Amino acid sequence: MRYIPFVAWFVCLAALILCLVSFNAGIDGDAIENCAVLTFNTSSLGVNEYYNSSTPELSENISSLLPPGVTHPVSLTHYLGVKDWYSMHYVRTCSGFFAVSSSNPSLLTTKKINITCTTQSAGYTFILNDVLRKGLNPSVQVLATDIPGSRYNTRPWYSMWQVGQVTGISAWIAIPFTWAGTRRLNGYCVLWSFLSYMFFNINAGLVTRQIFSARSQLGTSVVPYPLGFLGLTWSTCVAMFIVFVSMLMEWHFQLWTFKDDKITLYRKPKYCSWHLMNLFSKLKEVHETQTRDKE
Ligand SMILES: *[C@@H]1O[C@H](CO)[C@@H](O)[C@H](O)[C@H]1NC(C)=O
Ligand SMILES: *[C@@H]1O[C@H](CO)[C@@H](O)[C@H](O)[C@H]1NC(C)=O
Ligand SMILES: *[C@@H]1O[C@H](CO)[C@@H](O)[C@H](O)[C@H]1NC(C)=O
Ligand SMILES: *[C@@H]1O[C@H](CO)[C@@H](O)[C@H](O)[C@H]1NC(C)=O
Repeated sequence: MRYIPFVAWFVCLAALILCLVSFNAGIDGDAIENCAVLTFNTSSLGVNEYYNSSTPELSENISSLLPPGVTHPVSLTHYLGVKDWYSMHYVRTCSGFFAVSSSNPSLLTTKKINITCTTQSAGYTFILNDVLRKGLNPSVQVLATDIPGSRYNTRPWYSMWQVGQVTGISAWIAIPFTWAGTRRLNGYCVLWSFLSYMFFNINAGLVTRQIFSARSQLGTSVVPYPLGFLGLTWSTCVAMFIVFVSMLMEWHFQLWTFKDDKITLYRKPKYCSWHLMNLFSKLKEVHETQTRDKE
């Protein structure tokens, strides 16, 4: 039994589980809604217009939607036909309300309630203004442009993530076959885990950039710091990097194991310097690989 690929297999499993968690975030009313990629905070929609005397007509239209007796609601969204927040996940979008603070009923907390989710096609584009326009009562539809949300295209980072996942799964399936010591397969595991790491890294970079650009464009209309999501994404990346480095080390150790050595050893033969090792192992590689793989 080779120890390094044994450990690498579990790290690879961890990476794939993290990957699966972020993929499944957004299943109806689930507990990992806080792992949303982006959450738009629309809870203040219409508030400025409602209290602003220089937009009397709109203010009138808004107050005609409020039930009698309600004059200073903590959030108008419910009456206007929209939600307090909208969130994006890999293949779902969710929406709902913020819970009202129990100590101060005129404040909203950050707790998400009444969560409903919709499945989206892979690589969907999210356009906040369109979503708001569809929900808003026709008399106040002009409010949809209040939040200048641009388009959020998930395709680039979603596809990078998919490739990362497929190559990651290939590595995970292949690694157990290297436990007994098979150097050619080690080479493939190095390749797959490297590709997986690269694509997860590009995915993490793209999605982080999207999060920061949404934040700088929309300011307080985006719930800051989706730490849950960033944590998941970047730890997937780090875990896959560890798999890659481990399999690379393993591969080198096995290239340096000569014909009559025990395959389970982790050492360089004493008759070689580290530098010469590389040259020497390359020369013997072809012959030895053939011999070994026949066994
Ligand atoms: C009220 O509306 C006017 C015109 O739309 C705008 O210029 C002004 O900034 C608004 N005032 C507040 C307090 O939002
Ligand atoms: C949502 O926006 C409102 C108004 O800008 C703010 O008071 C509230 O704290 C925000 N909520 C979150 C969770 O960011
Ligand atoms: C949110 O859910 C609670 C209970 O789960 C319910 O009483 C309330 O009416 C819901 N609010 C909206 C706006 O749907
Ligand atoms: C107010 O509502 C009326 C009737 O639905 C509509 O014609 C008008 O355009 C609305 N005003 C604004 C400012 O949207």
